[in-house]
Amino acid sequence: TGGPDAGSGGGGTDDLIVGFSQVGAESGWRTANTISIQGSFKAADIELKFSDAQGKQENQIKAIRSYIQQGVDVIAFSPVVESGWDTVLGEAKAAGIPVVLTDRSVDSTDDTLYESFLGSDFILEGEKAGDWVNTEFADATDVKVVELQGTTGAAPANDRAEGFRNKVTDPKFDIVATQTGDFTRAGGKQVMEAFLKANPKIDLVYAHNDDMGLGAIEAIEAAGLVPGKDIKIVTVDAVKDGMTALAAGKINFIVECSPLLGDQLVDIAKKVAAGETVEKRIVTEETTFDQEQAKAALPDRKY
Ligand code: AHR
Repeated sequence: TGGPDAGSGGGGTDDLIVGFSQVGAESGWRTANTISIQGSFKAADIELKFSDAQGKQENQIKAIRSYIQQGVDVIAFSPVVESGWDTVLGEAKAAGIPVVLTDRSVDSTDDTLYESFLGSDFILEGEKAGDWVNTEFADATDVKVVELQGTTGAAPANDRAEGFRNKVTDPKFDIVATQTGDFTRAGGKQVMEAFLKANPKIDLVYAHNDDMGLGAIEAIEAAGLVPGKDIKIVTVDAVKDGMTALAAGKINFIVECSPLLGDQLVDIAKKVAAGETVEKRIVTEETTFDQEQAKAALPDRKY
């Protein structure tokens, strides 16, 4: 954590300075992502100025402006929400500082405002969750679904909702409630408590990340129901706590979203700083896990 000036690097050998604005520390995924990025820049001996926006777009805009003022070589950031970036990205462009989008994208129509976008295909993640739901409930006739959405306006919330709906099209599925839990465990728990009170029958929880799914598990257990059996749960991320709940049968399926973007970001930052062209879109490779696959993968899971 720290303000825009809270550097975590230490004077890189080649004098490259990168400014990074992180979303916050809302989830296990985010913590793993921060560790990956800070670790990779340290290992590469490149100075990284790191700031935590604590979930607020205005803090990110402030951090980016501060990086522009300081004249860093590259700015990278994971946008809290998709909209509202054109002005500040235009300022970076005018200052001649290349910008790399990390993890999340912006909805700007002018793609000259950034050099590259490194991160997951969130629509595909939602579609993978939807594919699993179609198979799991193939023989069911009436399926009541509740959805715990990520942060309102964030790319992964928008896209995971869209991808899921691309696949879960059979009229037997009824999404009876959808609300944001802000990607946090506490948010997932609170919203699930309300869902349980308002809905006499829930067959499936679709949580946009593991943390909200873990919060939902607490609410389901507190209501005297068995997560993974009475109410099935599908989530996105595959962080260690999520995988542990999956292996224990409390979650039914997880779509992976990899937070380990540090090494690739270092590589891209070096290239754009040297004026080289990089791929505009670099998609992270990811898989999915059922309960048996989680048991097998868990011992080696690093985060
Ligand atoms: O942008 C990636 C998402 O942000 C992760 O899936 C979620 O856990 C995090 O908060």
